[in-house]
Amino acid sequence: MRLSKTGMKMNRMSGVRAIMQDIILTMRSAKDVHFYNLSAGNPVVLPEVSRLWRKYFRQFSDTDEFDTVLGRYSGSSGDTHFVKSVCDLFNRRYGWGITPENVLVTPGSQQLYFYVINGAAGMCEGKHRKILFPLSPEYTGYANQGVHDGMMASFRPRIEKTGPHEFKYHPDFSKLKIDDDIGAIILSRPCNPAGNVISDEELKKIVSMAKEHNVPVFVDGAYSPPIPGLAFEEMTPAFDENVIHCFSLSKAGMPGARIGVAIGSPRYLAPLQAFHETMCLHTSAIGQAVAAYAIDSGELEKASEEIIRKYYLEKRDLALKVIADSFDDSIPYYVHKAQGTLFMWMWFEGLPVSSQELYERLKKRHTLVVPGEDFFPGLEDDDWKHKKECIRVSLTASDEDLEAGLVQIAEEVKYLYEAQRVHARA
Ligand SMILES: Cc1ncc(COP(=O)(O)O)c(C=O)c1O
Repeated sequence: MRLSKTGMKMNRMSGVRAIMQDIILTMRSAKDVHFYNLSAGNPVVLPEVSRLWRKYFRQFSDTDEFDTVLGRYSGSSGDTHFVKSVCDLFNRRYGWGITPENVLVTPGSQQLYFYVINGAAGMCEGKHRKILFPLSPEYTGYANQGVHDGMMASFRPRIEKTGPHEFKYHPDFSKLKIDDDIGAIILSRPCNPAGNVISDEELKKIVSMAKEHNVPVFVDGAYSPPIPGLAFEEMTPAFDENVIHCFSLSKAGMPGARIGVAIGSPRYLAPLQAFHETMCLHTSAIGQAVAAYAIDSGELEKASEEIIRKYYLEKRDLALKVIADSFDDSIPYYVHKAQGTLFMWMWFEGLPVSSQELYERLKKRHTLVVPGEDFFPGLEDDDWKHKKECIRVSLTASDEDLEAGLVQIAEEVKYLYEAQRVHARA
C-alpha cells in the first residue's frame, strides 16, 4: 500500500516498539541462552487471578445474558451491566455519585488516549493546541499516538533526592505553564515508567490550573486502586468536574479482553464516545459482561488488593534488597521511590555511556532492560543528560531472574564508572 503522510507516521517503528522488537529478535536468535528478562510490560499470569476469571467466564456462559451479549450489538458507551457495576463500585468506594452517563468503555485504555490526543490536539479556533504531560518521564505509549507531528508538550520535572540512593520526581510548578494552547492534559498515576505517584496536592494544583483554561485532565489509572490496585502507598483516585479517571482491566489479569474505562463528565466523554462509535461501534462486550460479575461480587477488588498488589509489592521489596546488597555504594545510582506499577526506574547520575548503550552492553550479559530515553514524550529537550541516564526494570521476572539480572546491572555499571575514573586519572 502507498502510505499517506499519516500512514507513514503511524507505521514508524521507533522508541520502545523498536526496543521490544530488538528484544524479541535477540531472544529468538540465541535460542539456547537463558536471558534475565527485566524488560517485560506484560503482567504475570497469577494462578489465583486466572482461576477467578475462569470461574466467572463459566458462570457467565450459563446466564441468559450470554445470548444477548454475544448475539447483539451493545450501546457505544459500554455493556449496560458492566457500566452499572463500574458506577456501583466507585460510588460505594469513593462516594462519587456517578451514573452511566459518566462512563465510557473503550477497547483497552490505549485506544482512549488515541481519541483524546487526536480529538483535543491540533488546529482548533485558530490555534495549534497540544496535549500536555505535566512532567516527563511519562508512559511511552502516548508518544506516537498523534496522527501529526508536534502534538505533544512536556516539562522537565523537579528532582528531589529523598535518600542516599533514592529520588522522586515532582511537577516543576516554577516552569509548568497551562494556558489556552493546551487541548488536554494526560498523566499516569501511578506512573509507568517511574512508579511515581504525584501527590494529591500536586494533582489538585494541576487540576485547578487546568480548570482556569477549560482544559480536561485525564488521569491514567492503569495501575491505580481500586482495580488493579497497584499502588504501594495509600492513594485515592481523583474526581472533579474537569478530571477524567481512566482505568483498565489489563493489569488485573485481562489484557486479552481489551477493556479500558473512562469516568468523567459527559461534557468530555460525549465527543470521545462519538469518535469511538465511528471507529469501532462499541467495545467487545463479552469481557465486560464477565468482569461485571467479578466486580459485583467484590472478588475482583479483593484480588487486586490481596493477590495482585501483594505479588508486586513482594517483588519490589526483593528488588530493593538485591539492589542495596549488590550495587557499589560509591556509585551515584538512584532508584525512583517505588510507589506503584510493575516497574522500577533507576537513574545513574553522570552515566559514562547513554542508557541505549548500557542496554546493548547488558544484552551481552544476557540481561534485558528498557533504556529510558524513549520515556519522555513531548520533551524536546535534547540537552538534558538525565534523559539518557535511566533504565526501566520490570518486576514481572521470576525471583531468580530479577536477582541475577540486577546483579549483572550492578557489575556493568560499576565497570563503567571505574573505567571512567581510570580514564580521568590517566
Ligand atoms: C500507563 C499506561 N497506560 C495505558 C496502558 C495501556 O493499557 P491497556 O491495556 O488498557 O490499553 C498501559 C499499558 O501498559 C500503561 O502502562
